Amino acid sequence: MKALITGATGFVGQYLASYLINNGYEVWGTTRINSREINDIQAMEIVSVDFDDIAGTIEVLDKIQPDQIFHLAGQSSVRDSWTNKMETFQSNVNLTIQLLEAVMQSVVKEKVSILTIGSSEEYGGFDTSGTPISEETLLKPTSPYGISKATVGMLVRHYFTAYNLKIIHARPFNHIGPGQRLGFVVADFSNQIVEIERGHQENIISVGNLSAKRDFTDVRDIVRAYHLLLNQKENFAWGESVNVCSGIATSIQNILDSLLSLSHSSIDVVVDSEKLRPVDIPLFTGDNSKLKSLTGWHPAIGLTQTLNDVLKILRDQ
Ligand code: GDD
Repeated sequence: MKALITGATGFVGQYLASYLINNGYEVWGTTRINSREINDIQAMEIVSVDFDDIAGTIEVLDKIQPDQIFHLAGQSSVRDSWTNKMETFQSNVNLTIQLLEAVMQSVVKEKVSILTIGSSEEYGGFDTSGTPISEETLLKPTSPYGISKATVGMLVRHYFTAYNLKIIHARPFNHIGPGQRLGFVVADFSNQIVEIERGHQENIISVGNLSAKRDFTDVRDIVRAYHLLLNQKENFAWGESVNVCSGIATSIQNILDSLLSLSHSSIDVVVDSEKLRPVDIPLFTGDNSKLKSLTGWHPAIGLTQTLNDVLKILRDQ
C-alpha cells in the first residue's frame, strides 16, 4: 500500500508516517517548496510540492501513484486564525481545492482514497449542556479556523457527490502528545514548566482561559483512527464527516493542575490577558460512536500518560 501524506513533516504527519511505515506502507510526504522543515523519518520519501501549481501537483501524483492520500497540510492554529484570516483560508480551503482538482486530473483518480482533516471548531456554538456533539449537530463555527475547516467538510461532500471521489472528512477534537509545537495549550504549559525546572524562567507560569473544557486525545490514537478511516472493509462513509475524539471533557484548569502535579517545582499561576481569545468556545465534548461503529476504534492512551510523555520528551531534550 502506498500513502501520500501532505504536511508530512508536521506534528501529526510525523506520527502518521511512522505508524503507516510500521504497518507495511510505502510512505511519501509532501512539504512546501522552500520549506526548511526537517524529515526525521528516514523511511519516508519527501517530495516538494507547490499546490498552487496544479500541473506540478498532477505530475507528482502521477509519479507516486498513491493508493491513499492523508491531507494533513494546513494552518492548524485556532488562535493564529484570528489575526491571519486570509492565510488560514488559503492554506485550509484553497490548497484543498487545488489538491483535489489535481487528483481529478491525475491517473490516480479512480483508485485513490482521500482523508481530509477538519476540527471540532467546525461546530462552534455555545452549548454548555455537556451533551457530546455528534456529526448531525448544526455547524455554527465562530473562529476563522472553524469556518475554514467547515468549508473543507462541505467540499468533501461536493467532490464525493459530484465526482464520486472516495473521500472522507475526519473531525478531530483536541489532540496532544510529545513533540507538539508551542501555540497549543499542553505544549505551552509543559514548556514553561520544564523551563522553570531548569531555572531558565522564574517560578510563574503564564496561562490563558482556564475555564474552557476540551476533549483531548493522544496524537498516537488520532493517527490510528485516520488509518482506520481509509481502511474500512465495509460501511464506507465517503463524502461524510466523522468525529475523532475521546468523548471526555477536561477543563484547561484540570490540565494545568495535572501538569503541575507532575513537577517537583513550586509554581505560581498568572493569567495573561494577551492569551485570551476574542471568542473561546466554553465546552467541546465529542460523540465518537460513528467512528467506533465504522472502524472499531477505541482510544488506548489515557490523559495522564500523555502528559507524562510530553514532559518526559521535553526534559530529555
Ligand atoms: N494555546 C493555548 N495556550 N491555549 C490556552 C492557553 C495557553 O497558554 N491557556 C488556556 N488556553 C485555552 C484556550 O483558550 C482554549 O480554550 C484551550 O486552552 C485549547 O487551546 P489550544 O490548545 O490552542 O487548542 P484549540 O482548541 O484552540 O485548537 C486545537 O484543537 C482543535 C480541535 O478542537 C488545535 O489542535 C486545532 O488544530 C484543532 O482543530
